[in-house]
Amino acid sequence: MPARSRPAQPAAIAAEAVPAKPASPSAPSETWHQLSDDWMNWADRLAPQAEKINRPLIDALNLTSPANTAARHHLLVLDLASGVGEPAFGIARLLARHKTDARGGDNGGCGSSDDEDGEHASENDPAKALTGHVIASDIVPAMCAGLAQRAQAEQLANLDVIAADMQALPFANDIFNAISCRFGVMFCPRPDLALRESYRVLAPSGRAAFMVWGPIGDNPLFSVMQDVLQSILGVGFDQAGLNLFDFADVNASASRMGKAGFDDIVVTSHRPCGRIPHNSAFWRPQMEMLFGPQLRNASPAARDAIDAAIRTKLSHYIKDDHFRVPMCFHIIAGSKGN
Ligand SMILES: C[S@@+](CC[C@H](N)C(=O)[O-])C[C@H]1O[C@@H](n2cnc3c(N)ncnc32)[C@H](O)[C@@H]1O
Repeated sequence: MPARSRPAQPAAIAAEAVPAKPASPSAPSETWHQLSDDWMNWADRLAPQAEKINRPLIDALNLTSPANTAARHHLLVLDLASGVGEPAFGIARLLARHKTDARGGDNGGCGSSDDEDGEHASENDPAKALTGHVIASDIVPAMCAGLAQRAQAEQLANLDVIAADMQALPFANDIFNAISCRFGVMFCPRPDLALRESYRVLAPSGRAAFMVWGPIGDNPLFSVMQDVLQSILGVGFDQAGLNLFDFADVNASASRMGKAGFDDIVVTSHRPCGRIPHNSAFWRPQMEMLFGPQLRNASPAARDAIDAAIRTKLSHYIKDDHFRVPMCFHIIAGSKGN
């Protein structure tokens, strides 16, 4: 693929990624359409912690495999269900010709973990030899527009964005060297079709990696949020149209990847635990990015009651004046044979 060096334009379509069929045959999910303002509202504040969450997902793509670094490929990477930017931004920075510093910062709401932390790229890091271009995508045009606006503000020159349903990708077969997807595939009405589409557009010897939530029982923030919102607003994940835990079972998820055609399937589970000051309402970003419309319609008294109930239920995770709430996600990765 030719090198590209121009600022990202709103909803620009990469010339290399020639549409093979029309985008978005189905209407964007109403749930996500209504959440784009909430995602934009929190995006910049959550950016510092995105690097830590992205790191194992990017590692699972094997971008620095000997095949890629020896051939000095200019990689073409597709990020699916990008929302307003992650992990597309992290990968674009990694593949930029003039690398920007990895973002640091504390962990805010989603937490970090000892096993997720690490040093910034060293001088000997093979990732420094990599260059490439990222196509970010999402089914909701407003998410794509927000992403493009943020990419332009950061002057990310090696990123374009296209509105696309990951169940019917508007790309030719065999063109992407890697495909990433952070917390997206489970929200498709037909996730197995999305996996097959990913396999179809992946180039031979390319690798795809999907970050998905582990079981609700291993994610106390979500189980508490669900209980409290159900009892105060009468809405939970199901009623909101959010199938967060469809890939929580690692064996079933690996099998779904195999049925989609992938081989060399590796599933890793991650259990970071944030350390967040006890007076922080750290659940608000996640809660608003999942239940924004319902919260906007709630009375101030109901919203106060929600915050108070969540704080009480999570208080037994407070140690040394900090919330230590564990979370669990999996990364399911697979390759396309030659
Ligand atoms: C939880 S958000 C994740 C966003 C981003 N990857 C991140 O981790 O910050 C899920 C995203 O999936 C998108 N989405 C839902 N169904 C989709 C589909 N069929 N095709 C593409 N994107 C979809 C939503 O619009 C939303 O932006």
